[in-house]
Amino acid sequence: MLLIAQVVTFLVAAYLIIIDLKSIDTKKGINDSILQDTALNISHLLPFTSVIETKQQLHSKFPNFNEKLRDLRLGDINFLHTTDTHGWYLGHLNQRQYSSDWGDFISFATHLKQLTAEQGGDLLLVDTGDKHDGNGLTDLTTPNGFLSNPIFSMADYDIITVGNHELYVEEVSKFEFETIVPRYGDKFISTNVEYLKDDGEYAIFGASKYRYFETDVNHYKVFSLSFLFDFHGGNRRVRVTPISEIIKQKWFLDLLDEFSHKEVELVVIAGHLPVAHNWEEMYQLHNVLREYFPDTYIQYFGGHSHVRDFTIVDELSTGFQSGRYCETVGFLSLTNFTDAKYHDDFIHTGIDRKYIDFNIHSFMHHSNKSSIHDFNTEKGLKASKELYNISKDLKLTEIQFCHNWNQNFVI
Ligand SMILES: *[C@@H]1O[C@H](CO)[C@@H](O)[C@H](O)[C@H]1NC(C)=O
Ligand SMILES: *[C@@H]1O[C@H](CO)[C@@H](O)[C@H](O)[C@H]1NC(C)=O
Ligand SMILES: *[C@@H]1O[C@H](CO)[C@@H](O)[C@H](O)[C@H]1NC(C)=O
Ligand SMILES: *[C@@H]1O[C@H](CO)[C@@H](O)[C@H](O)[C@H]1NC(C)=O
Ligand SMILES: *[C@@H]1O[C@H](CO)[C@@H](O)[C@H](O)[C@H]1NC(C)=O
Ligand SMILES: [Zn+2]
Ligand SMILES: [Zn+2]
Repeated sequence: MLLIAQVVTFLVAAYLIIIDLKSIDTKKGINDSILQDTALNISHLLPFTSVIETKQQLHSKFPNFNEKLRDLRLGDINFLHTTDTHGWYLGHLNQRQYSSDWGDFISFATHLKQLTAEQGGDLLLVDTGDKHDGNGLTDLTTPNGFLSNPIFSMADYDIITVGNHELYVEEVSKFEFETIVPRYGDKFISTNVEYLKDDGEYAIFGASKYRYFETDVNHYKVFSLSFLFDFHGGNRRVRVTPISEIIKQKWFLDLLDEFSHKEVELVVIAGHLPVAHNWEEMYQLHNVLREYFPDTYIQYFGGHSHVRDFTIVDELSTGFQSGRYCETVGFLSLTNFTDAKYHDDFIHTGIDRKYIDFNIHSFMHHSNKSSIHDFNTEKGLKASKELYNISKDLKLTEIQFCHNWNQNFVI
């Protein structure tokens, strides 16, 4: 009985998938050559073999192209934010809403940067940590992330920092410190995490404790810091000083004092900590920052709690958090944020935010591209191809079936 029920369930599911693929083809004119490489080889499924070959990303990204999407409101400065990716760079094979891979994200970011520039805006990419643990792509290698980190780092971030999942295992911290930190150079910052080098000296887990830079398009002067929450589980090589202590330390207050006398048009805090109202550390930090930057817009980016969130911190400051596992690319824009004339009701007039689902429908829509051919960039395709190769090597393209009749299908 159960077997028959399972077969029927499967056939219905397969039928729905095929119908959906066909509807994409007709409704949106998605390139036929992609459809011919369709994800599931049904003839393999039917005889109940123990392993089903599927073609992973590049070939299996079919979200609902009929879904209505709201447009982004591009601003004077714009952000794409990722956090807590935990190695999901292949996309979610079983969840078409999140089926884009890291190559698609790279193509998307490239197009959006161009679109914002055409409209006179800057675009900054921010990542707030936790690249490891949670997906075979990271977890099947030693050290964890050996193959996934190079894929991740094909994306050009402007501000990037460390999460607690970079700090549990010594080999992982070493690998991050020695490869990802130099890859991003002065864009990799950490204000409260340190790393014990082989020579016995502590170094900042990043190029610097802060980044002060000027944006490409509008030449905004940005002062950015980065904090990990009060984390105690790190390996012997890492040292985390809690925010509650940092805000009392002389070097930190001196740094704020120094920059409060420089030109700073925007303060950006990249935090691996939740932006929730009940997370006291953000407010402890904010109270001190406001003393030095009373009239400057302060933008927090958060993470760690794996949710999409948004918090109004005060009338010139918000916290933004963009989910987890490559399900979400957070978009946030600020308009007229340097002009005091617009500060009165800034929270309601100057900010737009969207949580973009990780799929090609969203990415193509917000890139203003109507064909996958126009959407793909050389670098994005290269990332996708490398991912596909790695996933084959690690056998991530095979679905493992359980022969126990009490188990349901995994499709
Ligand atoms: C699907 O699998 C069958 C059985 O192994 C094989 O003969 C066929 O060529 C495959 N089709 C595609 C499109 O890969
Ligand atoms: C931004 O300022 C311009 C004029 O400088 C104004 O036309 C526009 O409406 C403002 N936009 C917002 C969202 O405040
Ligand atoms: C989107 O693309 C179309 C066609 O290429 C173009 O006419 C339009 O101006 C673009 N829109 C934006 C906002 O760039
Ligand atoms: C479909 O893809 C092929 C090969 O990648 C390309 O030559 C062709 O222009 C594409 N067609 C469209 C409509 O994007
Ligand atoms: C993927 O693997 C194939 C076959 O081994 C190889 O020819 C190709 O260069 C690889 N592509 C990338 C992007 O690594
Ligand atoms: Zn996480
Ligand atoms: Zn975390």
